[in-house]
Amino acid sequence: MHIRFDQTELRHGEHSALKPLTLVLSEPRIGVIGLNGSGKTSFARLINGLAKPTSGTVTLDGLDTVKDEREVMAKAGFIFQNPANQIILPIIRDDIAMGPKSRGLKGPALEAAVDRVLDRFGITHLASRRPHELSGGELQLAALAAVVVTAPELILFDEPTNQLDLKNRAMVKAAIEGLAQQAIVITHDLELIRDYPRVLVFHEGALAFDGQGHEAVARYVEIAGA
Ligand SMILES: Nc1ncnc2c1ncn2[C@@H]1O[C@H](COP(=O)(O)OP(=O)(O)O)[C@@H](O)[C@H]1O
Ligand SMILES: [Mg+2]
Repeated sequence: MHIRFDQTELRHGEHSALKPLTLVLSEPRIGVIGLNGSGKTSFARLINGLAKPTSGTVTLDGLDTVKDEREVMAKAGFIFQNPANQIILPIIRDDIAMGPKSRGLKGPALEAAVDRVLDRFGITHLASRRPHELSGGELQLAALAAVVVTAPELILFDEPTNQLDLKNRAMVKAAIEGLAQQAIVITHDLELIRDYPRVLVFHEGALAFDGQGHEAVARYVEIAGA
């Protein structure tokens, strides 16, 4: 999928969360790094239409995030920084079923679709649990299952390995690697994106670097003065 920013800006009053940005993304894996408050989440929210540009446009294969909001939201799934916030229903299985159900799937076909995605992410045993009974990594996988079951073309991850122990991190890393979909991964976990062919570094609301993962990491270290 081609994601196109054309002179796109996102302002909150006088403050620019994202300064005017023009670029096209089409790689299967794209990393996004930068200091806290540098505009990473704003950038991702603009892509799936959760945030609307103050000026300029964002298009996904020509679909505009403002004019074609519904199609854009169907094409691009978002895993929030805290996935507990996006699991709305009390039972994991019901939450995963919600998306396909709202698109008209029902009966055995609905149950089969939910079973398939639970199995695919190895979380069948968690189906009848409540979100607060899951570990951080399990929550990420449940949120990912709820997004994948709606068959988006692009998945946006906002710091998916944040606060995860090594075992949960490995679980989430493998799940991201195994996706057939295009993925954009915001992270402070630099090892996650170091080998990506394309990583964006944001600094103070602007794109400071756009290129190979290992070069992006070097640029980020420089910015951080670390
Ligand atoms: N709803 C909002 N209202 C006001 N300022 C915001 C809002 N959302 C983000 N910002 C500001 O925009 C900047 C970029 O935020 P964000 O995109 O969340 O950064 P990051 O994800 O890189 O930490 C920050 O300075 C943040 O405080
Ligand atoms: Mg953020």
